[in-house]
Amino acid sequence: MEVIIQPNADAAALLVARLIAKELRANPHLVLGLATGRTMESLYARLVRMHREERLDFSLCRTFNLDEYVGLSPDDPHSYRQYMHRHLFGQVNLDPRNTHLPHGQAPDLDAECSHYEQLIEKFGGIDLQLLGIGRAGHIGFNEPLSALRSRTRVKALTPVTLAQNAPMFGGVEQMPRRAITMGVGTILESHRCLLLATGEEKAAIMAKAVEGPITGMISATALQLHPRCTVVVDEAAASQMQ
Ligand code: GLP
Repeated sequence: MEVIIQPNADAAALLVARLIAKELRANPHLVLGLATGRTMESLYARLVRMHREERLDFSLCRTFNLDEYVGLSPDDPHSYRQYMHRHLFGQVNLDPRNTHLPHGQAPDLDAECSHYEQLIEKFGGIDLQLLGIGRAGHIGFNEPLSALRSRTRVKALTPVTLAQNAPMFGGVEQMPRRAITMGVGTILESHRCLLLATGEEKAAIMAKAVEGPITGMISATALQLHPRCTVVVDEAAASQMQ
């Protein structure tokens, strides 16, 4: 695992944007795994700027998001599809047909999960998977007790995650209780992983993720098994690492 510490959150997001841009320029057909969450907003803003000012071209790029809430339609403003539209898809030259998220309203959720796995495989696997981290250490929505070889499936969200994401829904009562998420095994199969974490509130979990023992209770620890994983943190998020 390669850990890169940047002085602040802006610098960390800029570095991750540069790493993504470098891979995309080297391979315009890049299969890019995407993540959501507040941390990613400044990163996507940087990529949008690079598209506008430096002609970063997404026209041949294909994207797969990590997860989506169960029960939300793609038009729901709280869906991750809409999040991606607001922060990236609607602002760069990605072909909408090349952007993939699990369908949270699929009539058969298990079939939707296998279909998502097959689609990733059909396009040769994920070249670069972007990741954030939840307060309890999830990647995607791989909540505690996620098997290290798990595949795309439905997971129930834990109270910690519900509390963390409730502000976006205007309260925990309005939040979906389940999500479709790529599995830990799915994530580990991507050719390269790139995790971005910033801020004091991620310091304790980042120390565990990077330095702690590998455990299904903290799915981010599984990244220690990945041959090519880069972690970019700001000083605040690195402050509890040895
Ligand atoms: C959600 C996503 C995760 C993401 C996390 C981080 O739970 N499913 O993939 O890592 O948010 O959120 P934030 O950046 O808001 O701390």
